[in-house]
Amino acid sequence: MIIFFQIIFQRQIISVANSIMEEAVRDCIHNTAPQSMGIADLGCSSGPNALTVISKIINTIYTTYHDQTATSLPELRVSLNDLPGNDFNSLFNLLPEFYNKLQKEKGIGLEGCFVYGVAGSFYGRLFPRKTLHFVHSSSSLHWLSKTPPALDMKIGKHLNKGKIYISKTSPACVAEAYLFQFQKDFSTFLRSRAEETVARGGMLLSFMGRSSRDPSAEVGCHQWELLARALMSMALEGLVEEEKIDSLNAPYYAPCAEEVRNVIQEEGSFLINHLEAFEIGWDEDDKNGCGYHDYELEKSSRGQQVARTIRAVVEPMLESHFGREIMDELFIRYGKLVDDYFSKTRPKHINLVISVTRKD
Ligand SMILES: C[S@@+](CC[C@H](N)C(=O)[O-])C[C@H]1O[C@@H](n2cnc3c(N)ncnc32)[C@H](O)[C@@H]1O
Repeated sequence: MIIFFQIIFQRQIISVANSIMEEAVRDCIHNTAPQSMGIADLGCSSGPNALTVISKIINTIYTTYHDQTATSLPELRVSLNDLPGNDFNSLFNLLPEFYNKLQKEKGIGLEGCFVYGVAGSFYGRLFPRKTLHFVHSSSSLHWLSKTPPALDMKIGKHLNKGKIYISKTSPACVAEAYLFQFQKDFSTFLRSRAEETVARGGMLLSFMGRSSRDPSAEVGCHQWELLARALMSMALEGLVEEEKIDSLNAPYYAPCAEEVRNVIQEEGSFLINHLEAFEIGWDEDDKNGCGYHDYELEKSSRGQQVARTIRAVVEPMLESHFGREIMDELFIRYGKLVDDYFSKTRPKHINLVISVTRKD
């Protein structure tokens, strides 16, 4: 159930990027004219969103070929990537329905579209050289490969006391350490994809960012700030050890557009076609309509609903650090803090959408 809230939220993010993605796919076909087209979704997770994205990409390929060229559709090689711990079996169980629809709506059979699972980190090589034409990744690249090592305890002291991400009260070195780790990871990501992508191939990336240059601005951090407050309120009552909060720093970074642009330009393999920041409300409704309706959910407060979405994303990390016992209480407190925040403001997440082309 909790996972469902995550899927709905991320589905909105995918729909925001839709028109940019369609344009990127069309450009990719015109630029590369593939006979066999390599497509990859990186950080696909195990829910239906991965196949929804792939269906949208195939739709665009299909209409582009039917509208503008006389040649037949290329064979499609679709790779679904995530970390080795991902539940690929759940994803593969959705494939029969995916293939049925593809056959019914587009006349594309098993011999026209080959789907593979690829387990491994996208912060490194995943595919043979020059085999990909179009790469997609949504809601994944804000996860760093690891917590910035510079935040490890120095001379018996934690640098980011009482916080789990960049905060207004964090010393400047905390934001610097996060930025450094993001630059290193994102650059490695681009270098790896540059090897794997054909000349003039395309890539559409979307992930959490911020609209302000200030890394401690509320817009990129406040969901973590409220989580830290919920944890600290439990520490005050002896339910959580304060040292445990001091020692946790989320392996996450929400960059601003300029930081993303700088890394792409410095790495040098890709041309930027589009780089845009979109706002999405913390509790925005599912405009896409996934057919899911939960009357119990409607009775819960907006704060509780947001708490469920955030819980779906961060619970594994928090559970392994603090233990399972505190999770229910933590997210009840978090929901109340979010309700209080909603009473003062209408908070937004920033979603960055970036379309790039591999240089020749
Ligand atoms: C929030 S989910 C996004 C799922 C899907 N792309 C969507 O938009 O609904 C983020 C996914 O990124 C994956 N992920 C995080 N870091 C990764 C890495 N270094 N390599 C591959 N996948 C990664 C996670 O395992 C998780 O499944």
